[in-house]
Amino acid sequence: MSPRKRTATGAIPPPVSPERLASLRGPLLSWYDRNKRDLPWRRTRDPYAIWLSEVMLQQTQVSTVIPYWERFLARFPTVKALAAAPLDDVLSGWKGLGYYTRARNLHRAAQEVVERFGGKFPPTAEQLITLPGFGRYTAGAVASIAFGEPAPIVDGNVARVLSRLFEVEGLPGDRDREATLWTLAAALAAGERPGDFNQAMMEHGAATCRPESPLCLLCPVRDGCLAYRKGRVHELPPAKVRAAPRKLFLALAVWPHAGTLLFARRADKGLFGGLWELPAVEVEEATSEAEALQRLSTTLGAALTLEGSLGSVRRQLTHRDLTLRLLRVSGGPRPTKSPAFQELRWCTPQEAEALGMSTAMQRALDAVPGHGAREDAATVAAAKKQAPGRPRRKVKEG
Ligand code: ADE
Repeated sequence: MSPRKRTATGAIPPPVSPERLASLRGPLLSWYDRNKRDLPWRRTRDPYAIWLSEVMLQQTQVSTVIPYWERFLARFPTVKALAAAPLDDVLSGWKGLGYYTRARNLHRAAQEVVERFGGKFPPTAEQLITLPGFGRYTAGAVASIAFGEPAPIVDGNVARVLSRLFEVEGLPGDRDREATLWTLAAALAAGERPGDFNQAMMEHGAATCRPESPLCLLCPVRDGCLAYRKGRVHELPPAKVRAAPRKLFLALAVWPHAGTLLFARRADKGLFGGLWELPAVEVEEATSEAEALQRLSTTLGAALTLEGSLGSVRRQLTHRDLTLRLLRVSGGPRPTKSPAFQELRWCTPQEAEALGMSTAMQRALDAVPGHGAREDAATVAAAKKQAPGRPRRKVKEG
């Protein structure tokens, strides 16, 4: 299906007959009833718990999300509890999940739910989308799953299923293509059990209508799939062209003093915004240690001496190829404030564990003798399992 022309009012006309919609809806819902995974957030209608699962699932796979979701809910059981918690606690509860903007938005949105809606989530996508961090997807997911509103959702899985079923052309990100997908999703969601139907589409995309090796022989709507009929399943949707991750080099100050290390909290905006770190400055690949030390001294307002290098930690993020260079330093005066950071703190290893820190920074800290991964039985066992030189999992983080 080519992108449809907008009418004079900007609306896109309904593209599919009611019979065709019914012939897809019924089999997809029955397939879902037979095949859905028993996930903990599917046993509740609590909009807060459902919202949390949707936010976590946006960039993280289901098996990773389950224990995080359970722990986060145990720590912040209601939207009111989340709204009342300090941001630092929320970021610390998010530790390891990456994309920390999600946690900051979650916290702000919880505060707005309390302030603007008396602590109760509004039940429509139209109202939900006015909350921080709520895009069309999240608003549609919460409205349909928690409140039964026939609101559409389009995520990567749904976009792929729709592209194939209806032969939707165009590259991911193309405006007309997106508009066509949302129109189709809305037409399909407008029936019984919209929340289950939306989840059926996502689940079907993840389990059967897969990107690389789709299981068309097991597909409940194969007969109605235009791409299948025309032998175009592998062509649709066309692959997204990704920019190569940008290289980013940071020099970190490892500054020990009386059993503590210096930690800094980054400004709220930008990469790792609001998170704690070993104080870091951006450098270039070829920057000398002396120059990196100079930049750290200026940033911290202290005269630093280089005591040695602790090597580098590399971490592949979705949009960044990150190299963290660890410099062990000493110096004075010992700062407690710096205009470059929101806060500075001298922390023991135990105190540092409670700080909201990115996984990349946690790995850097693990490389600092005496401050890194604790040598408990679990850590030693995990370290033994990790074969030397095995490439690290590529993580999405921001
Ligand atoms: N991916 C994100 N949210 C989901 C849900 N509720 N069901 C299945 N897959 C999902």
